[in-house]
Amino acid sequence: MKPVKIGLLGLGTVGRGTAQILQRNAAELERRCGRQIVIHSAAVRNASKVAAEELGIKSTSDGAALVSDPEIDIVCEMMGGDQPALEWVLSAIEHGKHVITANKALIAVHGNEIFEAARKAGVVVAFEPAVAGGIPVIKAIREGLAANQIQWVAGIINGTGNFILSEMASKGREFADVLQEAQELGYAEADPTFDVEGIDAAHKLTIMASIAFGIPLQFNRVFTEGISKISREDVSYAEELGYRIKHLGIAKKTDKGIELRVHPTLIPHQRLIANVNGVMNAVLVRGDAVGPTMYYGPGAGSEPTGSSVVADIVDVVRVLDADPVNQVPHLAFQADVLSDVPILEPADFESAYYLRVHAEDKPGVMASITSIFGQLGISIEAIVQKESSPGEGVSAQADANTVVPVILLTRLVREGLIQEAIAEIEKLDSVTQSVAMLRVETLN
Ligand code: HSE
Repeated sequence: MKPVKIGLLGLGTVGRGTAQILQRNAAELERRCGRQIVIHSAAVRNASKVAAEELGIKSTSDGAALVSDPEIDIVCEMMGGDQPALEWVLSAIEHGKHVITANKALIAVHGNEIFEAARKAGVVVAFEPAVAGGIPVIKAIREGLAANQIQWVAGIINGTGNFILSEMASKGREFADVLQEAQELGYAEADPTFDVEGIDAAHKLTIMASIAFGIPLQFNRVFTEGISKISREDVSYAEELGYRIKHLGIAKKTDKGIELRVHPTLIPHQRLIANVNGVMNAVLVRGDAVGPTMYYGPGAGSEPTGSSVVADIVDVVRVLDADPVNQVPHLAFQADVLSDVPILEPADFESAYYLRVHAEDKPGVMASITSIFGQLGISIEAIVQKESSPGEGVSAQADANTVVPVILLTRLVREGLIQEAIAEIEKLDSVTQSVAMLRVETLN
């Protein structure tokens, strides 16, 4: 049988890892697929020309020519960004090529259009490397859990963010210093604010939610908060209360609609996911039949992400001659039956909440705070008044004399009510600064 020829778009961190695996494991891959897989060429920017030479790969700077080259069967897009990635992926599809992409932004934002084009052309667009690096979580949800109605998905899905949080918590390192190391290790996005502000996690959550619930990709409906708001104070109070703060992406189906949210979250420290550290990612998926399942592994990096690219190549090679109708649908459900179940506004989210209130240490303050919760019908799980200590944003004068942090944990409540409670608390004369709020998930 003729070898299958691969064209690579990009030879950066993921491209290089992919090429190394294809070369090193060529014999094993042929045994798996029954066909030889060879790299035809790579379209690279100047900076990656040396990598191409070192790997013995023919390189070009003309991506548009590569995606229309009749010799190439499968195009792997590992360049990232919006353009020219979108143009070249659509052109590859138009030229009848199967496409693998590691580009989560591309799928989350333009996936509906890309899949429509792929269906018309009868080609596969695969994207395992776009979510959670080396963890085969797309395959797990789309195929392994196909029997289930998925109830929720919750995951640590940004390796850079988790690396930063873990290093800060365990070694007391500075944010900027750890971020720089994450960039040097090839974990971070070209624009690291995507990692730090939760945008990268929101891209990945968009994709997982679609294949979990059979809904169109709706990146612009994801509520997104990054890790820059997490203070050392909250990390240590959360620890004292038995929780770890992790940056989670959560997609949850409720009676009213679907919650899509990315934010720092307090998780009971005994949960497995609370102990996932460094660049590792973990995704919990709860199905009605199977119950909770968890997928763990490296969420970024050269060969871990390359592992997912190559797994997708193997899948495509195995179905190269199959009728497109019999292939696994891109978003797990048949395209004509995607559901229009609404995505909820943040006020309709349901969660437990951690609040940190800085208030003057005088009689009646605690009562005035708790009476606000009573009036709104919000149940309090725990309330602790901490000792006065110099804290972030507390003025030296007030801090030294009278201001104490009060920490509250609520039971499950609609977020709109918590927002009302916060507004009322901030109106109290005894409250000296904005209330810090974090969501709490027990992930039961
Ligand atoms: N910047 C991403 C992360 C790379 O840190 O998770 C993998 O998608």
